[in-house]
Amino acid sequence: MPSLSTRRGIRGDTLLFHIFATMPIVAPSLLASNFLDLRGECSMLNESEADWYHLDVMDGRFVPNISFGLPVIAQMREATTKPFDVHLMIEEPGKYAADFKLAGADHLIVHYEVCPHLHRNIQQIKNLGMKAGVAINPHTPVQLLQDILHDLDIVLIMSVSPGFGGQQFIPHSLSKIQMLRQRIDEMQLNTIIEVDGGVTLENAKTILEAGAHSLVIGTTIFKAADPKSVISRFKHL
Ligand code: DX5
Ligand code: ZN
Repeated sequence: MPSLSTRRGIRGDTLLFHIFATMPIVAPSLLASNFLDLRGECSMLNESEADWYHLDVMDGRFVPNISFGLPVIAQMREATTKPFDVHLMIEEPGKYAADFKLAGADHLIVHYEVCPHLHRNIQQIKNLGMKAGVAINPHTPVQLLQDILHDLDIVLIMSVSPGFGGQQFIPHSLSKIQMLRQRIDEMQLNTIIEVDGGVTLENAKTILEAGAHSLVIGTTIFKAADPKSVISRFKHL
């Protein structure tokens, strides 16, 4: 397998995304944070080596859980300095895209499984000035993205069933990452492969070697005694 520093397929022409040729993007998932001390958690992340804030929005319909939404994100924006990577686990995401832009989203990721008009959703997100991403559930084949891949800034591979933090990484996700990585390289795209769910210090290197650029990490960071040093360990695997 190629080493992290020699992985290829990335052209250096996308501003936000130039760093991952040598270092992973680390995107802590605030779902596992202490909601009673969000300001403190934001300060910690601002000072840390984390790259993005990963914000999991759930509607209790697409996924069997409800998390937080627009007002929380808008207030967090005032306390934070890094891009907001907003993962919408909601039905009809197009209805809310403009509201999430207003709240401060930099990337908006919608689920393949709830978007019969995915092309329209992606164009809408881009026209609003955000990076556009598509998330796929563990049972959704990466091949289904073939005819939209060239339009995507991010593909989020769910390595657990969405809805809850603290679950076990599904090993089959690795072959999905490899397959997608190969396709992105063949097409010479800049699309970022982000992996979400069950990422730990034990499996992160394997996930990156399979071809991922960005790691979403909730439990392993926020339940640690020293989250900043854990973030640093993910950056320097
Ligand atoms: C699950 C969310 C994830 C999750 C990751 O639906 O999309 O972002 O919070 O958390 P861990 O790292 O605990 O699996
Ligand atoms: Zn997520």
